Parts: sequence; C-alpha cells; structure tokens
Amino acid sequence: MHVLVTGGAGYVGSATAAYFLAAGHQVTVYDNLVKGHRAAVPDGAAFVQGDLGDKHALDVLFQTVPVDAVAHFAAYIEAGESMQLPGKYFENNVAFTNNLLETMICHDVRKFIFSSSAGVYASKDTAITEDDPVGPANVYGETKLMIERMLGWYNRVTGLQFAALRYFNACGAMLTEDGTPIRGEDHHPETHLIPLTLQVPLGQREAIYIYGTDYNTPDGSNIRDYVHIEDLASAHVLALEALDSGRDHMIYNLGNGRGYSVREVIDIAREITGVDFQAIETARRPGDADRLVASPERIRRELGWQPRFPELQDIVATAWRWHTTHPHGYAGQPPAEVTR
Ligand SMILES: NC(=O)c1ccc[n+]([C@@H]2O[C@H](COP(=O)([O-])OP(=O)(O)OC[C@H]3O[C@@H](n4cnc5c(N)ncnc54)[C@H](O)[C@@H]3O)[C@@H](O)[C@H]2O)c1
Repeated sequence: MHVLVTGGAGYVGSATAAYFLAAGHQVTVYDNLVKGHRAAVPDGAAFVQGDLGDKHALDVLFQTVPVDAVAHFAAYIEAGESMQLPGKYFENNVAFTNNLLETMICHDVRKFIFSSSAGVYASKDTAITEDDPVGPANVYGETKLMIERMLGWYNRVTGLQFAALRYFNACGAMLTEDGTPIRGEDHHPETHLIPLTLQVPLGQREAIYIYGTDYNTPDGSNIRDYVHIEDLASAHVLALEALDSGRDHMIYNLGNGRGYSVREVIDIAREITGVDFQAIETARRPGDADRLVASPERIRRELGWQPRFPELQDIVATAWRWHTTHPHGYAGQPPAEVTR
C-alpha cells in the first residue's frame, strides 16, 4: 500500500515510516517541519513539506500521490502549553485533522490510523482498558478525544475505516541491527521526562525537576506507562494490515501495562548512565493526572502485538545511546537521503 504519513518528520512518525517501508509499503511523508526534522525522514520515503492547514496543498497532494491509507501523527503535543494556549491546539490538532479527513473522503481514501493518546483517559488506580471512562485532564487530551469522536462519525457517515491508537508515553530510540542509534527524541522545547532526565548526566541541564510530590501514588510522584517507539511503529503496521483485511474501526491502548513513578524513572536513568545526578522537588503543574497505566491486552489478543522492549531499563538504554551519540539531536545532520 501507499501510506501517507503526516508528521513523519517527527519522533514517532519517522520511526513508523521506517517500519512501513520495511514491511514493503510505499511511504510519502507530509510535514511542515515546524517541529520535525528533515533528517529524521527515512531513506526510501518521499517527502512533501506542507501544512495541514493548507487545504489546497492537501488537495494537490491527494491528486498527485496514489494514497491508499493515511497514518496521522501531525499534531502539537505539549500538554502544558495546551493549558495556556488552547486555541492553538484546537486549531492544529482538531480543525486541521478535519481538513485531512475531508480531503481523504473527497479523494475516496478511507483507511486512517490515528495517533491518539493516554491523555484521553482520567486517572485510574488500576490498568486502564479501552472501555474505561474517558476524561482528559488537559486541552491536548481533549483534542485527541474530539478527533476520536469525529472518526466515529466519519465512520458511520462516510465508511471511513479507522484505528485510533492510544499511546501511553512514547520513548526510546530506534537502533540499527548493529546497535547504531538512527532516530530518537529531539523535541523543542523538550517536555518529556526521559530525555529531560538524560540531559542532566549529559551535562546539558543542572538538575531534573519532579513536578508534584503529593499525587495519590505510593511515592507521591506521577505514574506513567512507557512504550518504545519501535513498538508503537510495529503496532501501526499491524493496524494497517487489519484495515486492509476489512476491519472497520478499532481503538487500542499501546503501553506495557506497567507503571513507573517519576522517581523510579529517574532512578533507572541513574542506573543506566552510572551518574548519581540531582533531582529537585517542586510544585505540581496544571493538567497532570496521578496515574495512567495501560492494559494492552486488547491489541495483543486481537492483532498479536508483542512489544520488543517491555522493560524500561532497555528503553532508557536505547535513549541514552541516542543522546550520547546525538547530543544536539538532528542538528547539523544532513537530510537522510544525502547520508545514504
Ligand atoms: N510522544 C508521545 O509521548 C506521544 C504520546 C501519545 C500520543 N502522541 C501523539 O503521537 C503523534 C506524534 O508525536 P511525536 O512525539 O512524534 O511528536 P513530534 O512533534 O515529534 O511530531 C509531530 C510532527 O507533526 C508535524 N506537524 C505538526 N503540525 C503540523 C501541521 N499542521 N502540518 C504538517 N505537519 C505538522 C511537526 O512538524 C512534527 O514533525 C502526535 O499526534 C502526538 O499527539 C505522542
């Protein structure tokens, strides 16, 4: 199939584009590079620089590329910022996704894989299943839920087939078979715990902050479920196959089913890096849920998804390899095609 990957110059989208190619699909990446990196786009994928806000450009894209399915990663992703600038998130994530969906239907493309998020859920003390009540704690999570609801209606009204994949915390780096890191986290600003933490032993940050120590968890810091980007990527390949074999709509959690507190993540980072760096306790931020841990049973059972990196130590080790070999991320790297 020919897969259009929006946001394919970003962290999860670029790894997934590489997995689609490896599975024998053709890939066109569509990304405005506002947050992504041209160098992250894998060899073998066509690249079109463009914005989902530009309806004319989308129409031209679908006229010129024989798209069979869309994997939609493009979004703004900072939960904290979404609580300060809600309109920015409703526009880019929700309204621009609608541009994409309308253009798809106009061009008779009806297979859609959506990067949803654990942020659609309310905090829960036990593993969250897809049937648990939703209840986003921030605007970002609300945008993901709004899109899922839109997908339900597009499905009913237009026959759009979709898979909404609710990622828990994406992390880790993609390595070649000989262990060379080729894709990793490089967000500006970085807001994710693992890369922020690793910046301390790298000497790029003085200390890591623990935002809130009075959450309703055993050690008082938030608990999250961490899932490696290659495991997210393999789930997209399975979801595409399921859509191709006629599945109508699917919603799946993608996590490992094990929660780690912020303090535990920091301890694992100390263990992997061998540096006993400083952590500073500070006040809560708005919009952080106490505990979000997935039950990944449904996608395991229905699609046979099996994570390669279920252990957080292994995930952090891949991230550490990426950050030590790419201390400034993709900066200074030529586009992937040039390095071939
Ligand atoms: N990273 C996580 O932990 C996580 C967790 C749950 C869900 N998600 C979702 O997964 C997706 C990918 O996340 P990521 O960490 O790779 O983010 P990212 O910022 O690395 O990638 C997003 C990409 O989308 C592009 N983009 C944004 N708006 C665009 C627009 N209007 N037009 C064209 N391109 C646009 C950016 O330039 C960027 O390359 C997002 O939808 C995010 O909400 C991520």
